[in-house]
Amino acid sequence: MVTCLVAGATGAVGQQIVRLLVTNMAVSSVVVLTRRAVPAAGEAAAVAWAREHLGLTDNELAKKIIAVHVSEADWEHDDASMSALDVMARDFAVREQAWLQTLLQTPAPAALVQVMNGVDVVFTAMGSSRANSETQAAQAATSYHEGFATWLRRVDCSQNIKLAQAARAANAKGLVRVSAMSSNAKQFGTPEQYWGWCESFHT
Ligand SMILES: NC(=O)c1ccc[n+]([C@@H]2O[C@H](COP(=O)([O-])OP(=O)(O)OC[C@H]3O[C@@H](n4cnc5c(N)ncnc54)[C@H](OP(=O)(O)O)[C@@H]3O)[C@@H](O)[C@H]2O)c1
Repeated sequence: MVTCLVAGATGAVGQQIVRLLVTNMAVSSVVVLTRRAVPAAGEAAAVAWAREHLGLTDNELAKKIIAVHVSEADWEHDDASMSALDVMARDFAVREQAWLQTLLQTPAPAALVQVMNGVDVVFTAMGSSRANSETQAAQAATSYHEGFATWLRRVDCSQNIKLAQAARAANAKGLVRVSAMSSNAKQFGTPEQYWGWCESFHT
């Protein structure tokens, strides 16, 4: 039997991944990483949470879910380097490459490694979007591109790389990430760049 972990499980793609996993006889449990509040101990509360946040209507399948709260602090972001970006700056590409190299050399966050204990395969469909309130707030504070890039960098790129680092540190057997067809590490200052960087690390 296999234990899986899903990040981004409450999203459109993540919910589908969870549904496929819980209906798979070989999967004994599915650890769901979430920034949302998780249920207090107890089967009924856990089943109700899975119904509300994952759209799981079958109580028996919902019992396979173990929801784990991951706070902002648990990602161990370097807030100084995660501040809003100036994507139009002349040195943007150089700066971003330096940021990425530092990120790659930073050990996996301890809280994430701990959560990976006993996990065989990690799935991630965790990603920001233009519809997210934090992206829209950053766009209002800076510009359309900078606001979006700030959250792509933080979630799609940084958090997914940290997740993979933690999976590796905990000896998980595999990691599967839902990316986007257009991802391209060389397309500087675009969403495609951040997805592409993440791929470069994952493969
Ligand atoms: N939908 C598509 O057709 C499609 C196609 C191609 C690629 N993709 C890629 O697949 C991924 C998921 O897409 P989706 O449509 O499922 O997106 P979605 O519905 O917006 O779901 C995104 C997931 O990521 C989580 N998330 C967002 N910001 C976060 C943060 N700061 N910290 C922790 N978790 C965070 C969300 O959690 P909350 O529920 O708490 O907000 C949610 O679980 C994206 O990276 C997207 O680029 C999607």
